[in-house]
Amino acid sequence: MSTKQINPSNLLNTDSLAELDSWIAKYPEGRQMSAVMAGLRIAQDQNGGWISDELIEAVAVYLDMEPIEAYEVATFYSMYERSPVGRHKISICTNISCMLRGSDEVVSHLENRLGIKLGETTEDGRYTLKEVECLGACVNAPMMQVGRSYHENLTPELLDSIIETIESGGSL
Ligand code: FES
Repeated sequence: MSTKQINPSNLLNTDSLAELDSWIAKYPEGRQMSAVMAGLRIAQDQNGGWISDELIEAVAVYLDMEPIEAYEVATFYSMYERSPVGRHKISICTNISCMLRGSDEVVSHLENRLGIKLGETTEDGRYTLKEVECLGACVNAPMMQVGRSYHENLTPELLDSIIETIESGGSL
């Protein structure tokens, strides 16, 4: 992280700043730091799905907090990406409930279908496969998250249908 303070308005665009302001307004006066998770998500969305050190710092400065505090948040939660990802990030839960209900098959089916392993991005930049911990949908395991949508009770047929929907430009 840089030691020179940056100007958030140089890195966060008008829409991002307006959205961040709307989050800050949800919290009591002086508690703007509470919007840090939203701020990091907004910055990440603006940046095509990942967040750089500079953007983390921009969010921190805007929220009047130490950059290291925002950095700690950005590196703790799996929803933040610290390097570029594909346009469709597929996060597969392999935690206990999903493991018992077939997450290994979900992983291998998608790895075979997309030609990449967990942690990799397709050469065309369309897909990233990511292994994640419990996403809180254990009751309908196995599950995965694609972008912002959850997909549960996964089967090979459902996985194929999800990929085909993406390929055809449909919304999930
Ligand atoms: S274990 Fe997979 S969602 Fe909880």
